[in-house]
Amino acid sequence: DRSDALPYDLAGARIVISAGGTREPLDPVRYLGNRSSGKQGFALARAAAQRGAHVTVVAGSTNEAGEPAGVDVVHIEDARELADEMTKRAADADAVIMAAAVADFRPITVNDTKIKKNDDGPAPIELTTNPDILRGLVQSRESGAIPSEVVIVGFAAETGDEHGGVLDHGREKLRRKGCDLLVVNAVGDGKAFGTEDNTGWLLAANGNETSLPYGSKTLMASRILDEVHALLPD
Ligand code: CTP
Ligand code: CA
Repeated sequence: DRSDALPYDLAGARIVISAGGTREPLDPVRYLGNRSSGKQGFALARAAAQRGAHVTVVAGSTNEAGEPAGVDVVHIEDARELADEMTKRAADADAVIMAAAVADFRPITVNDTKIKKNDDGPAPIELTTNPDILRGLVQSRESGAIPSEVVIVGFAAETGDEHGGVLDHGREKLRRKGCDLLVVNAVGDGKAFGTEDNTGWLLAANGNETSLPYGSKTLMASRILDEVHALLPD
């Protein structure tokens, strides 16, 4: 009885998903990192594989133990490695999903040797801006470096502030990034980071806006994949 089985609507689709956080090295033993658990990216990977897709996860630091059945996992450390992997793999993908928490900045220099304490106290850490991978993928598609049919999905974790609500920030980010779909998570009060549940919006470049009711990351994943499926060419 397959009446409650998952749809098998992504059979053969090649989907590349970044997940987890990047770690930006300072010296051989230290890095700047973030608290991304990788849960959302891996939930997407599992759900897509169950729906028949060929899934590759490009994973930074995560809390995931082991690798999901039927999913290829490639490991990266920092944002520039992630950029290389995503750009390379997007060339023969049907959809790329940037669920990773990419560090916006990295230390400008990486010490070859371990930074030592000294009597002058700590030296300041100078930072530089990392490449915007999602924006870069969109630009590669515009320039023809990756196929025009590739569906590009981004994520955003937003809080409301004096400039607007979560939805306003999401709409602005969708425009700025130029991707096809932006998954907007409302954060704050401990929401989203490391927790099981999310709530937010799915904003499509074609103007479609769907609210994501409070639910598990597995449920979110299936909603996101429904939208990705709708955007894939027949
Ligand atoms: N992203 C990326 N490369 C970066 C930073 C972010 O590809 N250097 C991707 C994330 O994986 C996510 C989306 O862009 O899919 C939005 O990330 P976010 O941090 O919300 O956007 P930023 O442009 O960095 O803006 P903010 O100032 O809000 O952090
Ligand atoms: Ca950012």
